[in-house]
Amino acid sequence: MKTTVVGLGYVGLTLALTLADCGHRVYGLEINEEIIESLLSGKSHVMEPGIDDLLKSNLGKTFFPGKETQKVSEFNEAIIYCLPTPLNAGVPDLSYFIRAVGSTLTYVKKDTLFVVRSTVPVGTTRKLLIPLLKESQVFQNSEPMVAVCPERTAEGVALQELRSLPQLGAATSPQALARAEKLFSFAREFIKLDSLEAAEAAKLFSNVYRDVQFALANEFALLAEEWGFDIHQVIAAINKDYPRANIARPGLGVGGPCLSKDTYLMAYSAKEYQPLLSLQARKLNEEIVHQEINRILPLVKGNKALVCGLAFKGRPETNDIRNSPGVEVIKLLLNQNFVVYGFDPALKEEIIFKTGALTEPLEKAVREADLIIIANNNRFFESEDFWETLSQKKKGCLILDGWGLSGKRKLKGLIKLGVGNEGCNY
Ligand SMILES: NC(=O)c1ccc[n+]([C@@H]2O[C@H](COP(=O)([O-])OP(=O)(O)OC[C@H]3O[C@@H](n4cnc5c(N)ncnc54)[C@H](O)[C@@H]3O)[C@@H](O)[C@H]2O)c1
Repeated sequence: MKTTVVGLGYVGLTLALTLADCGHRVYGLEINEEIIESLLSGKSHVMEPGIDDLLKSNLGKTFFPGKETQKVSEFNEAIIYCLPTPLNAGVPDLSYFIRAVGSTLTYVKKDTLFVVRSTVPVGTTRKLLIPLLKESQVFQNSEPMVAVCPERTAEGVALQELRSLPQLGAATSPQALARAEKLFSFAREFIKLDSLEAAEAAKLFSNVYRDVQFALANEFALLAEEWGFDIHQVIAAINKDYPRANIARPGLGVGGPCLSKDTYLMAYSAKEYQPLLSLQARKLNEEIVHQEINRILPLVKGNKALVCGLAFKGRPETNDIRNSPGVEVIKLLLNQNFVVYGFDPALKEEIIFKTGALTEPLEKAVREADLIIIANNNRFFESEDFWETLSQKKKGCLILDGWGLSGKRKLKGLIKLGVGNEGCNY
């Protein structure tokens, strides 16, 4: 199918390349010129294993990135919208989405399939997208074919999951749904839902479910701190061979571009029932960063800090720092007049600078710091190499292990999230 993917970010680029690799001819429409330049030179701006190879093997053959909207007219059998849907002052900001639809509308035809891939508040497709499409002359006497096929992959394994996860979808007509199913035939399975709203909600529920699970683990961690035992040991004991529990690993906040906003997108969509549990869970996942920092700050003897783990998650690795708890930690420390160094094995120096932190080689930053915080779960922070480096820290330096990655290691000054202070060795 001759397809346009609008927005070549984490979601759009991985999807565009997967489609191109399956033989579809794909135009990638992107407004950011740096992204286009980078892609045309064969380099992906997003970090995904295997993505540069996939780009190089399809570039100019089946994948054509560019910024000219007119070109959509040559690739208009399907148009897939992969635009950001962030929060702006707590309210979903659909302006990227609206602008992108507006820019492509002149170049569509009667049987173009429109696919919503972004995560959107429930009702967006029916109440916003379809009326927008109907403003076009093309749909004066016919209904546009529209499908909602939400993205559910995780950064770092997206290329693999695009093919291995079932794809959810709903559409405005059986014909549109059949076309969407064909487009996503690279996925293991295409699960059809009855309405556009059901498909929009299925995406939101997938993420909110995860956020609530993390919040429960974090709540247990905060209770363990009060009761003076090690939550990591207790969770491992509960989960072992017990079929009715699979408690998540507690951690220093839950961030990223999706989980941090999707609960609010869901709540915003509801007019009568206001979610209780999920909003509380979200709050807890935001608050835990502040609680842990407040817990340790009175114990710190100096004003130099090193924050390790600045991407919003460490597993699978990503270079994405959007709504990252590590970046929030840096902000809190800078507000307390700390000099803050940042380190993340997945991030280049220029991305670390964007967080407001300074960079130094890890060994040097460790030797200078009065406080070291492990803010994401990158596997490197579990390694012997890392802990060997930390053992060079100066006397009196505190370490906050925000993910329990120190395991059974004993080190003077080590404090763990989810471990009562009595169990700590500072
Ligand atoms: N990142 C994830 O892992 C993930 C996973 C599932 C769903 N989602 C959802 O998918 C959507 C996209 O997320 P993302 O992380 O890819 O965002 P992103 O910010 O990485 O990518 C969006 C891209 O769209 C481009 N863009 C903006 N306006 C445009 C326009 N008018 N025309 C062309 N391009 C335009 C931007 O320059 C950017 O490159 C969001 O709704 C998000 O919630 C994201």
